[in-house]
Amino acid sequence: MAEQQPTVAQLFDLSGQAALVTGASGHLGRAMADALAEAGARVVVASRDVHKAQAVASALAGREAGRHLGVALDYHDETLLDQGFEAAVEQVGGLDILINNGHEALAADWRQVSGEQFTRQLANATGYFLLARKLRDHAVERGAGASIVMIGSMYGVVGSYPQAYEGIQPASPVAYHALKGGIIHLTRHLAVYWARDGVRVNCLSPGAFPAPGVSRDLVERLEPRVPLGRIGQPHELKGAIVFLASAAGSYVTGHNLLVDGGWTAW
Ligand SMILES: NC(=O)c1ccc[n+]([C@@H]2O[C@H](COP(=O)([O-])OP(=O)(O)OC[C@H]3O[C@@H](n4cnc5c(N)ncnc54)[C@H](OP(=O)(O)O)[C@@H]3O)[C@@H](O)[C@H]2O)c1
Repeated sequence: MAEQQPTVAQLFDLSGQAALVTGASGHLGRAMADALAEAGARVVVASRDVHKAQAVASALAGREAGRHLGVALDYHDETLLDQGFEAAVEQVGGLDILINNGHEALAADWRQVSGEQFTRQLANATGYFLLARKLRDHAVERGAGASIVMIGSMYGVVGSYPQAYEGIQPASPVAYHALKGGIIHLTRHLAVYWARDGVRVNCLSPGAFPAPGVSRDLVERLEPRVPLGRIGQPHELKGAIVFLASAAGSYVTGHNLLVDGGWTAW
């Protein structure tokens, strides 16, 4: 008799799992937290401000609605990072999923950026690594698998078009390109080392998803560069995040999934 195969609904179901999502108060992080909650996970929202985290958590839906939690966590302070992770574990018992999404932005491009600003931007990757290692160690300690998703960017894969920004705002920051390229490769390295621990590590790289406040002129310059002819909407990351986090992606590790409307295809 043929072996019973899991159904698609079972593969994408996150019931009984707990997910830590950083930067879930932001433009894209909120959609990611919504997606995991709607797929059945209990979500721990991390923000630099615990009250903001708790407010986002209390608005999440899914079977764990009312039981989602908020913790304070800052990638640029290792003590606060450790405390945030420990608080999450203490409150949910075990963590199965980590979404490294939070990001301290930088406006300065290659013309103005100081060495100090460049180094601080790269330190976002240090935070992603330290938090990922905490989840890996936690998973090994409890004898469970885990799934880690790093948030990269299409700008970790390609350069930006100088003409798109000229006269409107600084170019996309050079340190951001270095950071996101580094995060994509960090993903591959950790995926290889942690596969034996049952810990999958993938990267999700969004294309152009400007927040509502971004200049309309800039959006109009970006849109023709997208084969699909438009910018992305946050909900268009929901399927990809659940795929990578869940058993639907059980044979996927070390991958960089570009959700960019085809930007990097031409
Ligand atoms: N939007 C796009 O077009 C786009 C494209 C490609 C990639 N991405 C990537 O997608 C992710 C989310 O972007 P977004 O557009 O949603 O940005 P966003 O709206 O600015 O949200 C980023 C969140 O990161 C958190 N954060 C800031 N500094 C932090 C720190 N030191 N430690 C921990 N968390 C910190 C903030 O939350 P708190 O204030 O609550 O701490 C903020 O809400 C980022 O990694 C970004 O690089 C975005």
